[in-house]
Amino acid sequence: MLRKLLRRRLFCYPMKYCFLVLIVSVVTFSVLRIHQKSEFVSIDHLQLTDENPSSNINCTKVLQGDVDEIQKVKLEMLTVKFKKRPQWTTYDYINMTGDCTSFIKKRKYIVEPLSKEEAEFPLAYSIVVHHKIEMLDRLLRAIYMPQNFYCIHVDKKSDSSFLGAVMGIASCFSNVFVASRLENVVYASWSRVQADLNCMKDLYRMSADWKYLINLCGMDFPIKTNLEIVRKLKSLMGENNLESEKMSASKEERWKKRYEVINGKLTNTGADKMRPPLETPIFSGSAYFVVSRNYVGYVLGNEKIHKFMEWAKDTYSPDEYLWATIQRIPEVPGALPSSHKYDMSDMHSIARFVKWHYFEGDVSKGAPYPPCDGIHVRSVCVFGAGDLNWMLHKHHLFANKFDTNVDLFAIQCLDEHLRRKALEPLKHLPW
Ligand SMILES: *[C@@H]1O[C@H](CO)[C@@H](O)[C@H](O)[C@H]1NC(C)=O
Ligand SMILES: *[C@@H]1O[C@H](CO)[C@@H](O)[C@H](O)[C@H]1NC(C)=O
Repeated sequence: MLRKLLRRRLFCYPMKYCFLVLIVSVVTFSVLRIHQKSEFVSIDHLQLTDENPSSNINCTKVLQGDVDEIQKVKLEMLTVKFKKRPQWTTYDYINMTGDCTSFIKKRKYIVEPLSKEEAEFPLAYSIVVHHKIEMLDRLLRAIYMPQNFYCIHVDKKSDSSFLGAVMGIASCFSNVFVASRLENVVYASWSRVQADLNCMKDLYRMSADWKYLINLCGMDFPIKTNLEIVRKLKSLMGENNLESEKMSASKEERWKKRYEVINGKLTNTGADKMRPPLETPIFSGSAYFVVSRNYVGYVLGNEKIHKFMEWAKDTYSPDEYLWATIQRIPEVPGALPSSHKYDMSDMHSIARFVKWHYFEGDVSKGAPYPPCDGIHVRSVCVFGAGDLNWMLHKHHLFANKFDTNVDLFAIQCLDEHLRRKALEPLKHLPW
């Protein structure tokens, strides 16, 4: 009777196939269970709270903008104990990455996609760095997901041990690599653009899966989780997103004169340059962009854009107008019309949150953002812990600049906050 029922219901005749079906089902079920379970169990190990060099600082309060707690951060950083804290050198990284399994575990990299939605929307990153290996490790860990792709451009001038350490980190992940061509990056020169272009080419060749490209430098840090970034990018519906505004007359000297690298410094030769080979006027923007894969393919292959780039090579800070201008050429995928109605300021763009010294002030009196809580480097704020609360309410994906030597807690608290936010939904899964 039972045999008959089994035969009918499970379509497994003769009887020996029933065992096979049963065994396969049991094994599949167990593997799935174990897989889900290990993911669940690992969540607590992925929390970053135990890294806080001083348990005295309450990051929740810092993020809420608690004035006393932010003051406490400043005092904490003045203590001998803090100043003498152990810091990892490039040699430590070369050593640690000799054993990748232990490195990934010790540094708490996330090695499984956190959701189907993220797994189905891979991102590509181009990261341009020249020093501060611990910052790079923290940045990479904060944005690392196994489905994404990461190209790291290391300045040719960098210390060989720095390059060694970056290569060590890259060797631990199949989706992280050092750019195949490295440039000697000179401040404000074309080499900054070329570094990103080298990574763009490598990333484009490496995978057809990724949907958007984001470029970063070593002093950037995310202010959104990977899932939040994915959702923002999906909502762009194929458009690129970057600063692109009318250029002020005072900046035109930058591309109306010929510049040359002399003794490692970009210098104005005084010689006049030809007009740019474009109908689109020159727009002003920044080095940072969020662009679609179609855009990258177009920019790498288009003759007109190659000519524009060729022309831009002997100008001052081409990164600050090149991307902004390409974004306004009508036939470029995901671009905006050149009409000034479509101008996008740094605050409207999602690419980067930056505080410029000369714009800081009282927001209620018309300033775009409150004063910097850290220090200024070349008029740009290097954030302090007191800057976090405000920026976390902004729509930008990344903020610039952070530096562990200026305010370690700004990075620490932001890192912990994002990690907790990313892992939180997993705690409520039904297993
Ligand atoms: C940190 O501050 C928050 C908000 O004031 C508080 O709820 C929490 O208990 C504090 N955590 C610790 C460890 O003191
Ligand atoms: C790193 O250094 C430690 C201590 O010097 C040593 O025991 C360990 O084997 C090294 N690890 C690797 C992967 O070289």
